[in-house]
Amino acid sequence: MAFKQGLFKTSVGRKNLMAITGLFIAFFLIIHLVGNLILILPNSFFPVEFWGNVANQHDMYNAYSHFLVHFWPITLVAWVLYLAIAVHILDALLITLNNWKTRGEKYEVTDNSTSTWISRNMGILGSIIGIFIVIHMGQFWLQYKVLGTEHDLYNLVVATFKQEWVIILYEIGIITLGFHLVHGIESAHRSLGIYPKKVMHIIKYIALCFGIAMAFLYAIIPLIIYFK
Ligand code: HEM
Repeated sequence: MAFKQGLFKTSVGRKNLMAITGLFIAFFLIIHLVGNLILILPNSFFPVEFWGNVANQHDMYNAYSHFLVHFWPITLVAWVLYLAIAVHILDALLITLNNWKTRGEKYEVTDNSTSTWISRNMGILGSIIGIFIVIHMGQFWLQYKVLGTEHDLYNLVVATFKQEWVIILYEIGIITLGFHLVHGIESAHRSLGIYPKKVMHIIKYIALCFGIAMAFLYAIIPLIIYFK
Protein backbone atom coordinates (compact mmCIF):
# COMPACT_ATOMS: atom_id res chain seq x y z
CA MET A 1 0.00 0.00 0.00
CA ALA A 2 2.80 2.37 1.03
CA PHE A 3 4.61 1.36 -2.17
CA LYS A 4 1.49 2.14 -4.24
CA GLN A 5 1.08 5.52 -2.56
CA GLY A 6 4.77 6.31 -3.06
CA LEU A 7 4.49 5.41 -6.72
CA PHE A 8 1.75 7.96 -7.34
CA LYS A 9 2.41 10.60 -4.70
CA THR A 10 6.17 11.16 -4.48
CA SER A 11 8.06 12.83 -7.29
CA VAL A 12 10.51 9.90 -7.55
CA GLY A 13 7.60 7.44 -7.68
CA ARG A 14 5.91 9.45 -10.42
CA LYS A 15 9.11 9.61 -12.47
CA ASN A 16 9.59 5.85 -12.11
CA LEU A 17 6.04 5.25 -13.24
CA MET A 18 6.56 7.60 -16.16
CA ALA A 19 9.75 5.72 -17.08
CA ILE A 20 8.17 2.25 -16.87
CA THR A 21 5.05 3.21 -18.86
CA GLY A 22 7.23 5.09 -21.38
CA LEU A 23 9.50 2.09 -21.97
CA PHE A 24 6.46 -0.17 -22.36
CA ILE A 25 4.97 2.22 -24.96
CA ALA A 26 8.37 2.32 -26.75
CA PHE A 27 8.31 -1.50 -26.88
CA PHE A 28 4.78 -1.40 -28.33
CA LEU A 29 6.02 1.07 -30.97
CA ILE A 30 8.60 -1.48 -32.20
CA ILE A 31 5.97 -4.23 -32.58
CA HIS A 32 3.48 -1.76 -34.13
CA LEU A 33 6.12 -0.67 -36.63
CA VAL A 34 6.99 -4.22 -37.67
CA GLY A 35 3.29 -4.94 -38.37
CA ASN A 36 2.81 -1.73 -40.32
CA LEU A 37 5.92 -2.23 -42.44
CA ILE A 38 3.87 -4.93 -44.22
CA LEU A 39 2.10 -1.98 -45.90
CA ILE A 40 5.21 -1.02 -47.85
CA LEU A 41 6.80 -4.41 -48.52
CA PRO A 42 6.62 -5.61 -52.13
CA ASN A 43 4.25 -8.48 -52.92
CA SER A 44 7.26 -10.68 -53.69
CA PHE A 45 7.77 -10.89 -49.89
CA PHE A 46 4.60 -12.95 -49.63
CA PRO A 47 4.97 -16.02 -51.88
CA VAL A 48 1.79 -18.08 -51.65
CA GLU A 49 3.85 -21.31 -51.47
CA PHE A 50 5.32 -20.05 -48.20
CA TRP A 51 2.42 -18.18 -46.56
CA GLY A 52 -0.45 -20.45 -47.66
CA ASN A 53 -3.60 -18.49 -48.51
CA VAL A 54 -1.79 -15.13 -48.12
CA ALA A 55 -0.50 -13.99 -51.52
CA ASN A 56 0.15 -10.24 -51.27
CA GLN A 57 0.60 -7.35 -48.82
CA HIS A 58 -3.17 -6.67 -48.78
CA ASP A 59 -3.98 -10.21 -47.56
CA MET A 60 -0.99 -10.24 -45.20
CA TYR A 61 -1.88 -6.92 -43.55
CA ASN A 62 -5.51 -7.95 -43.05
CA ALA A 63 -4.47 -11.39 -41.75
CA TYR A 64 -2.11 -9.68 -39.29
CA SER A 65 -4.83 -7.24 -38.10
CA HIS A 66 -7.35 -10.06 -37.80
CA PHE A 67 -4.88 -11.96 -35.63
CA LEU A 68 -4.37 -8.91 -33.40
CA VAL A 69 -8.08 -8.62 -32.72
CA HIS A 70 -8.90 -12.31 -32.30
CA PHE A 71 -5.95 -13.61 -30.28
CA TRP A 72 -6.93 -12.98 -26.64
CA PRO A 73 -3.41 -12.60 -25.13
CA ILE A 74 -2.87 -9.68 -27.56
CA THR A 75 -6.18 -8.14 -26.48
CA LEU A 76 -4.99 -8.36 -22.89
CA VAL A 77 -1.67 -6.66 -23.73
CA ALA A 78 -3.62 -3.98 -25.66
CA TRP A 79 -5.56 -3.13 -22.46
CA VAL A 80 -2.28 -2.85 -20.56
CA LEU A 81 -1.10 -0.50 -23.33
CA TYR A 82 -4.19 1.77 -23.04
CA LEU A 83 -3.64 1.89 -19.28
CA ALA A 84 0.07 2.68 -19.75
CA ILE A 85 -0.76 5.52 -22.18
CA ALA A 86 -3.35 6.95 -19.76
CA VAL A 87 -0.98 6.73 -16.77
CA HIS A 88 1.91 8.21 -18.79
CA ILE A 89 -0.19 11.23 -19.82
CA LEU A 90 -1.66 11.73 -16.33
CA ASP A 91 1.75 11.42 -14.74
CA ALA A 92 3.23 13.96 -17.18
CA LEU A 93 0.46 16.42 -16.27
CA LEU A 94 1.03 15.91 -12.54
CA ILE A 95 4.82 16.34 -12.85
CA THR A 96 4.42 19.49 -14.98
CA LEU A 97 1.83 21.01 -12.61
CA ASN A 98 4.00 20.19 -9.62
CA ASN A 99 7.07 21.77 -11.24
CA TRP A 100 5.08 24.90 -12.06
CA LYS A 101 3.79 25.10 -8.51
CA THR A 102 7.04 24.48 -6.67
CA ARG A 103 9.76 25.92 -8.87
CA GLY A 104 8.07 27.68 -11.74
CA GLU A 105 9.81 25.23 -14.09
CA LYS A 106 8.00 23.45 -16.85
CA TYR A 107 9.94 20.18 -17.01
CA GLU A 108 13.01 18.73 -15.41
CA VAL A 109 16.19 20.18 -16.94
CA THR A 110 19.16 18.48 -15.39
CA ASP A 111 21.62 17.78 -18.15
CA ASN A 112 23.51 19.95 -20.55
CA SER A 113 23.68 17.37 -23.33
CA THR A 114 22.49 17.88 -26.89
CA SER A 115 18.98 16.88 -25.85
CA THR A 116 18.52 19.93 -23.60
CA TRP A 117 16.18 21.68 -26.02
CA ILE A 118 14.15 18.48 -26.21
CA SER A 119 14.09 17.97 -22.44
CA ARG A 120 12.82 21.53 -21.94
CA ASN A 121 10.00 20.93 -24.40
CA MET A 122 8.94 17.38 -23.51
CA GLY A 123 5.53 18.65 -22.36
CA ILE A 124 4.84 20.39 -25.68
CA LEU A 125 6.18 17.44 -27.70
CA GLY A 126 4.05 15.06 -25.63
CA SER A 127 0.94 17.20 -26.18
CA ILE A 128 1.45 17.18 -29.97
CA ILE A 129 1.84 13.37 -29.84
CA GLY A 130 -1.31 13.18 -27.69
CA ILE A 131 -3.32 15.07 -30.32
CA PHE A 132 -1.81 12.86 -33.03
CA ILE A 133 -2.76 9.64 -31.16
CA VAL A 134 -6.37 10.79 -30.64
CA ILE A 135 -6.79 11.51 -34.39
CA HIS A 136 -4.86 8.35 -35.35
CA MET A 137 -6.96 6.06 -33.15
CA GLY A 138 -10.14 7.75 -34.39
CA GLN A 139 -9.12 6.99 -37.97
CA PHE A 140 -8.20 3.31 -37.57
CA TRP A 141 -8.61 1.77 -34.12
CA LEU A 142 -12.11 3.19 -33.51
CA GLN A 143 -13.47 2.14 -36.90
CA TYR A 144 -11.83 -1.27 -37.05
CA LYS A 145 -11.56 -2.48 -33.48
CA VAL A 146 -14.32 -0.67 -31.58
CA LEU A 147 -17.19 0.17 -33.96
CA GLY A 148 -16.43 -2.61 -36.46
CA THR A 149 -17.61 -0.36 -39.32
CA GLU A 150 -14.53 -1.16 -41.41
CA HIS A 151 -13.42 -4.75 -42.08
CA ASP A 152 -10.75 -4.20 -44.71
CA LEU A 153 -8.09 -2.40 -42.68
CA TYR A 154 -5.59 -2.38 -45.56
CA ASN A 155 -8.02 -0.46 -47.81
CA LEU A 156 -8.87 1.93 -44.97
CA VAL A 157 -5.20 2.74 -44.25
CA VAL A 158 -4.31 3.16 -47.95
CA ALA A 159 -7.36 5.40 -48.60
CA THR A 160 -6.51 7.49 -45.51
CA PHE A 161 -2.91 8.00 -46.64
CA LYS A 162 -4.04 9.36 -50.00
CA GLN A 163 -5.01 12.68 -48.39
CA GLU A 164 -2.48 15.53 -48.13
CA TRP A 165 -3.63 16.79 -44.71
CA VAL A 166 -3.21 13.30 -43.26
CA ILE A 167 0.34 13.05 -44.60
CA ILE A 168 1.23 16.44 -43.07
CA LEU A 169 -0.35 15.47 -39.73
CA TYR A 170 1.50 12.12 -39.65
CA GLU A 171 4.86 13.62 -40.58
CA ILE A 172 4.52 16.25 -37.81
CA GLY A 173 3.31 13.65 -35.27
CA ILE A 174 6.03 11.14 -36.15
CA ILE A 175 8.95 13.62 -36.19
CA THR A 176 7.73 14.93 -32.83
CA LEU A 177 7.62 11.34 -31.58
CA GLY A 178 11.25 10.88 -32.69
CA PHE A 179 12.38 13.87 -30.58
CA HIS A 180 10.27 12.70 -27.63
CA LEU A 181 11.82 9.22 -27.81
CA VAL A 182 15.42 10.49 -27.94
CA HIS A 183 15.06 12.25 -24.61
CA GLY A 184 12.45 9.87 -23.15
CA ILE A 185 14.57 6.71 -23.51
CA GLU A 186 17.59 8.38 -21.90
CA SER A 187 15.51 10.00 -19.16
CA ALA A 188 13.76 6.69 -18.35
CA HIS A 189 17.13 5.01 -17.70
CA ARG A 190 18.15 7.94 -15.50
CA SER A 191 14.88 7.81 -13.50
CA LEU A 192 15.16 4.05 -12.97
CA GLY A 193 18.80 4.35 -11.94
CA ILE A 194 20.05 2.28 -14.91
CA TYR A 195 22.52 5.00 -15.79
CA PRO A 196 26.05 4.17 -14.61
CA LYS A 197 28.69 6.75 -15.61
CA LYS A 198 30.66 4.19 -17.63
CA VAL A 199 27.80 3.45 -20.04
CA MET A 200 26.01 6.84 -19.99
CA HIS A 201 27.26 7.78 -23.44
CA ILE A 202 26.18 4.39 -24.83
CA ILE A 203 22.65 4.86 -23.47
CA LYS A 204 22.52 8.37 -24.98
CA TYR A 205 23.71 6.99 -28.31
CA ILE A 206 21.17 4.13 -28.27
CA ALA A 207 18.37 6.60 -27.41
CA LEU A 208 19.43 8.86 -30.29
CA CYS A 209 19.60 5.97 -32.80
CA PHE A 210 16.28 4.58 -31.56
CA GLY A 211 14.49 7.93 -31.93
CA ILE A 212 15.90 8.53 -35.41
CA ALA A 213 15.23 4.97 -36.63
CA MET A 214 11.63 4.95 -35.34
CA ALA A 215 10.88 8.39 -36.79
CA PHE A 216 12.42 7.50 -40.15
CA LEU A 217 10.68 4.12 -40.54
CA TYR A 218 7.28 5.37 -39.35
CA ALA A 219 7.57 8.50 -41.52
CA ILE A 220 8.23 6.64 -44.78
CA ILE A 221 5.09 4.45 -44.51
CA PRO A 222 2.49 7.19 -45.25
CA LEU A 223 4.82 8.83 -47.80
CA ILE A 224 5.37 5.62 -49.78
CA ILE A 225 1.64 4.88 -49.80
CA TYR A 226 0.78 8.45 -50.86
CA PHE A 227 3.21 8.49 -53.79
CA LYS A 228 2.47 4.92 -54.94
C1 HEM B 1 2.52 5.31 -40.32
C2 HEM B 1 2.45 4.75 -39.28
C3 HEM B 1 1.28 4.06 -38.63
C4 HEM B 1 0.31 3.26 -39.16
C5 HEM B 1 0.14 2.84 -40.60
C6 HEM B 1 -0.55 2.84 -38.07
C7 HEM B 1 -1.67 2.05 -38.20
C8 HEM B 1 -2.51 1.67 -37.18
C9 HEM B 1 -3.70 0.90 -37.32
C10 HEM B 1 -4.20 0.35 -38.65
C11 HEM B 1 -4.25 0.72 -36.10
C12 HEM B 1 -5.56 -0.03 -35.75
C13 HEM B 1 -5.36 -1.52 -35.70
C14 HEM B 1 -4.49 -1.91 -34.55
O1 HEM B 1 -4.91 -1.77 -33.42
O2 HEM B 1 -3.36 -2.34 -34.81
C15 HEM B 1 -3.40 1.39 -35.14
C16 HEM B 1 -3.58 1.42 -33.78
C17 HEM B 1 -2.81 2.12 -32.90
N1 HEM B 1 -1.75 2.94 -33.21
FE1 HEM B 1 -0.90 3.15 -35.03
N2 HEM B 1 -0.08 3.38 -36.90
C18 HEM B 1 1.02 4.16 -37.20
C19 HEM B 1 1.76 4.92 -36.32
C20 HEM B 1 1.51 5.03 -34.98
C21 HEM B 1 2.27 5.84 -34.07
C22 HEM B 1 3.48 6.70 -34.48
C23 HEM B 1 1.71 5.67 -32.83
C24 HEM B 1 2.12 6.29 -31.52
C25 HEM B 1 2.56 7.49 -31.39
C26 HEM B 1 0.60 4.76 -32.96
C27 HEM B 1 -0.21 4.35 -31.93
C28 HEM B 1 -1.26 3.47 -32.06
C29 HEM B 1 -2.03 2.96 -30.93
C30 HEM B 1 -1.80 3.30 -29.46
C31 HEM B 1 -3.00 2.11 -31.47
C32 HEM B 1 -4.01 1.24 -30.72
C33 HEM B 1 -3.33 -0.11 -30.53
C34 HEM B 1 -4.21 -1.27 -30.12
O3 HEM B 1 -5.42 -1.15 -29.98
O4 HEM B 1 -3.64 -2.36 -29.95
N3 HEM B 1 0.51 4.38 -34.27
N4 HEM B 1 -2.35 1.98 -35.83
